Parts: sequence; C-alpha cells; structure tokens
Amino acid sequence: MEKKEQLYEGKAKKVYATENPDYVIVSYKDDATAFNGAKRGTIVGKGVINNKMSNMMMAMLEKKGIPTHFVEQLSDRDTVVKKVQIVPLEVIIRNVAAGSFSKRYGVKEGTKLAIPTIEFSYKCDALDDPLINDYHALALNLASEEEIAEIKRLAFAVNEALIAFFKELNIDLIDFKLEFGRFHDKIVLADEISPDTCRFWEAGTWDTEHHTSLDKDRFRRDLGGVEDAYAEIFKRIGG
Ligand code: TMP
Ligand code: ASP
Repeated sequence: MEKKEQLYEGKAKKVYATENPDYVIVSYKDDATAFNGAKRGTIVGKGVINNKMSNMMMAMLEKKGIPTHFVEQLSDRDTVVKKVQIVPLEVIIRNVAAGSFSKRYGVKEGTKLAIPTIEFSYKCDALDDPLINDYHALALNLASEEEIAEIKRLAFAVNEALIAFFKELNIDLIDFKLEFGRFHDKIVLADEISPDTCRFWEAGTWDTEHHTSLDKDRFRRDLGGVEDAYAEIFKRIGG
C-alpha cells in the first residue's frame, strides 16, 4: 500500500490517504511536544520506536479480544491503520497517582490508588484539553451513552493486559492515555501506545518519593536520558 495525499499533520504523526477509503497510513515523527505544544523538541529515533511499539501492543491487545485500528506495519515509521473517526476524548487510566492527578488532588506522586481509575479530557487544543465528565460528553454530543460504556470497558481491559505485560518486564504501568475511534459504527482502539502516552516506572525502585521514569516525563521534566529511556523500553518489549 502506498501513501497518497497528506490528510493531516499532528504533533507526533502525519496521516496519509491510501487507495483504500477504509485505510490510512500514519507516519511517526521524532517531534516531541509537551504542555499543549508550549515545549518543543526532538527525540531522535522516537518515531521508529513508537511506531513499532504501538503495533506490537495493538497486536497483543487484538489477541486478547480488544478491537484496534492496526492493520499492517509498512516500514520503520509507517503503518496502515483503519480510517476511524476519532472520538474527541482523551481517555486516561491511572493505577498510581502522578502528573496532573497528583497536582489536582494533592496526592503524592507514587501513591498507589485504591482502584484503577478513569478520566476523560475533551480533545481540543484551543481549550487545552479540559477535564470532562460523561454527562458533559453526552451533552456536547461527543459520544453516545453506549459508546462511552464501551470505551470504559475496553480501556479497563487494556489496563489489565498492559499491567500484566509490563510487570513481566519489571516495569510498573503508572498511567496512560488512550484514544478510540468509530470504524463502521464499532468502537476500536486508535492512536498509539508508547512512552509518549504512558508512564512507565522501573519496578522495585520507587516509593512515594523517588522513581525512575522510562517515558516522556524525561522530556517533559528535563530529566535527561530521554532517548535512552525510549530505547530501554523498546529493548525490554523485545523490539
Ligand atoms: P497527566 O498526568 O499529565 O494528565 O498525564 C496522564 C497520562 O496521559 C500520562 O501517561 C501521559 C499521558 N498524556 C498524553 O498521552 N497526552 C497528553 O497530552 C497528556 C497531557 C498526557
Ligand atoms: N499532548 C501534549 C502536547 O500537546 C504532550 C504531552 O504532554 O504528552 O504537547
């Protein structure tokens, strides 16, 4: 399959049409942004790692019965995916307090949550992706009640699968962000699963004071060793 015209360029990926109206090609870039584009940089080799890693994760999830947009990897940076209509919600699952959750609720980073939790942000750069609840999403016609129920069910199933997968690799899955799309009226997992969109902490090395991040927080927080962290995750997943 070949790239036709570019349909869209996002912060980390470009999307191209193909000859098949049901499929598009995503092309992963090395560009990194944080804080809604306020911080910009390059993470050398990130596009290759995120492309291959996302595909490995999606293939693993498909085997566990979770429908995804993944079709076929074409090259280091390019993958054919189903052309979905993205539901404009960022779906965040958290197992351990970190990041904006810690800040918002005054909980120390590294505090294990009593149960895994879910939150939605309204995908809208102009508004800075504000936190939103189910009723707001329904009121704004962003998704139907059935779709929201299905998104929650799938997101928690993804969490179970990913926690188990990364535990074997000595990595604790702290939190992550998913996006879902509609493909012929069915909800499927879309976007990516990578160190850009997950918090991965080295297992056994953290308590509520210290941890070793193997993810994009190294870029967001200027911790150094950004490329090494991506490479380490990729190595552990067998890439
Ligand atoms: P947060 O604690 O900053 O809200 O982030 C929660 C998770 O979501 C974390 O794993 C990083 C991921 N994330 C994204 O993938 N994209 C984003 O724009 C943001 C803010 C977070
Ligand atoms: N999505 C954020 C941005 O747009 C990046 C992040 O914090 O993951 O810059």
